[in-house]
Amino acid sequence: MSAHDCKVRTADWARDDETLRRLRHAVFVVEQKVPEDLEWDGIDADCEHAIAEDGAGSPVGCARLLPDGHIGRMAVLREWRGRGVGGAILEHLVARARARGHAVARLNAQTHAIPFYEAHGFAVAGDEYDDAGIPHRAMERALR
Ligand SMILES: CC(C)(COP(=O)(O)OP(=O)(O)OC[C@H]1O[C@@H](n2cnc3c(N)ncnc32)[C@H](O)[C@@H]1OP(=O)(O)O)[C@@H](O)C(=O)NCCC(=O)NCCS
Repeated sequence: MSAHDCKVRTADWARDDETLRRLRHAVFVVEQKVPEDLEWDGIDADCEHAIAEDGAGSPVGCARLLPDGHIGRMAVLREWRGRGVGGAILEHLVARARARGHAVARLNAQTHAIPFYEAHGFAVAGDEYDDAGIPHRAMERALR
């Protein structure tokens, strides 16, 4: 199955928190060993979220858009990676950031994922730093 069989939809924390928690728990807490208190940082209710679902409606990935135009918490279940699902979620949130009037979309990329974001028009915009034991760099993409 490819990303063409997947649908990305806008989600919100009040309605979809259980699904979003399940996806992010699997990817960040279990796989990447991010401590729970860092993962659940208290700003999810203020964010717009996106969920990718497979052809049967099962959730396979997600991400969020902060009120300031930052995209974050990009997560695709391991067995679904490399098929364009992450790219589809990212483009969905870039379009949402543009629709909300942001001039620039920003994100803090884990350094291993920089080529993934570069393929979607983001450029590195800062030095490497550590967050939750994982090296990161700021990236941005102009929207106008
Ligand atoms: C990063 C992530 C969201 C990408 O999702 P995905 O569905 O695999 O992405 P896509 O299939 O749309 O794109 C993958 C492409 O990016 C490239 N890429 C480069 N570095 C990559 C990386 N670290 N992870 C995934 N893809 C990477 C792949 O080679 C692939 O290119 P190709 O299509 O030319 O083969 C997913 O790997 C993931 O959830 N990783 C664990 C959590 C994480 O690290 N999140 C990012 C936090 S900044």
